[in-house]
Amino acid sequence: MASTATKPLGRPPGPKGRPVVGNIFEFRRDILGTMIAGWREFGDVVQFNVGGAAYLIVHPDHLQYVLRERSDNFPKAPFQDQRWRKIVGEGIVTSKGDFWARQRRLADPAFHQDRIAEFGTIMTDATDEMLAEWDSADKSEPLDIRDEMMRLTLTILARAMFSADVWRDARTIGDAVGIMLTHANNRLFSPIDPPEKLPLPSHRRYLSARDKFDAVIYRMIDERRAGEPKNDLLTMFIEARDAETGEQMDNVQVRDEVRTMFVAGHETTAVALTWTFYLLSQNPDVLERLVQEIDEVVGDRIPTVDDLPQLTYEWRVIQESLRLYPAIWVFLRAAIEDDEVGGYRIKKGKNLFISTYITHRHPEFWDDPERFDPDRFEPHRTADWHRFKYVPFGGGPRKCIGNNFAIVEMQLCLARILQRYRLNAVPGFPVDFEPGLSLRQKHGMQMMLEPTT
Ligand code: HEM
Repeated sequence: MASTATKPLGRPPGPKGRPVVGNIFEFRRDILGTMIAGWREFGDVVQFNVGGAAYLIVHPDHLQYVLRERSDNFPKAPFQDQRWRKIVGEGIVTSKGDFWARQRRLADPAFHQDRIAEFGTIMTDATDEMLAEWDSADKSEPLDIRDEMMRLTLTILARAMFSADVWRDARTIGDAVGIMLTHANNRLFSPIDPPEKLPLPSHRRYLSARDKFDAVIYRMIDERRAGEPKNDLLTMFIEARDAETGEQMDNVQVRDEVRTMFVAGHETTAVALTWTFYLLSQNPDVLERLVQEIDEVVGDRIPTVDDLPQLTYEWRVIQESLRLYPAIWVFLRAAIEDDEVGGYRIKKGKNLFISTYITHRHPEFWDDPERFDPDRFEPHRTADWHRFKYVPFGGGPRKCIGNNFAIVEMQLCLARILQRYRLNAVPGFPVDFEPGLSLRQKHGMQMMLEPTT
């Protein structure tokens, strides 16, 4: 940032001039609440004491500077990377520098819009299978919609990754990914990270699940390499060849990318869909308009990716839901060299928190930020937006690779479900956050199913 200021960050809250707010215990108890309170009190750059200074940056200008303009000086924070790496290995989320650039070049084509279009039927087929189960469920009892969405997005990702072969291994994959996600949620922001070889029951369970998942991945890789290629993400990873160097991924790299996609792409989308159903249940006018659009564009037939350009209101509903409840509610960067952000000195090695949840509520950039208003995303209103005021998928070179996949999946699944059911929140059911890897619903999301016909 063009500034020469070198003043310490935050305002000293204590008599000894400690320029900090929050501490590790407050973070543990309520990490999001502590960040919000710090931001309300101190503004767009706040210093926290979490076993050393760390900064929250909120203003879109600062996000643009850190994520895009000076992304070379602000790579992902080693603190979080090391923990991710233990879980997924050296995949796109965790790698850096030339290795990351190469892996990203190799994986990017698999996520292009035209490739994702090929997964549309997988998405609607899986939704129909879930709806068939709903049809025979007892409608007088509530259903945990977060669990349902977790199952749905896992099925979709597993089939997109491994084709139809997955039925043989569905159970192993489901159990392993569930245990890996729990482990990731427990570890990513925890002040302690005991070594995996410590013989705790939770470690044994986790390592055994990961070994079983790896065995499935390696077997699938061997089958692909030996036989006919298939139209799935795994084949795309195996076949991808770097246009610059001609290199391909070896088996361990493919395995790490597969693990990465499951940890990064399954819970995020499930949690986002769940928040969308919750918001619709609280905003009947929006729901009515959405249902009308789906009826006009799709009618009773199964929605396809060709319908998506006409489902413009649905797209806005999803964007607005991701504004209020961005599944990745925070991510981290660390300064390589001393730098300045928003007029404050950031010393080398210090961590920066970027909270989409907070930036998406910045009152300078959002009118009535807590209101659910999908029309904010009408094209004439977004044309002159600050590009970094809305970053549910991040920004700069490390922007989410699965962004298109997630939006297409959310649009098709939401449309298909709303053709058949209304999901009504259970009155009085507590809706709280449990921020971890994603912005999870602490108590799940109990909803009543109401068939439309
Ligand atoms: C609603 C769903 C999703 C949300 C909100 C989301 C959000 C994000 C965000 C904010 C980042 C950037 C993190 C950072 O800069 O530190 C990211 C990165 C990433 N996401 Fe997603 N994501 C979603 C779905 C997916 C899906 C479906 C996949 C894959 C199947 C995926 C794979 C990844 C990967 C591999 C990265 C790392 C990219 C890199 O570092 O180059 N995500 N995601």
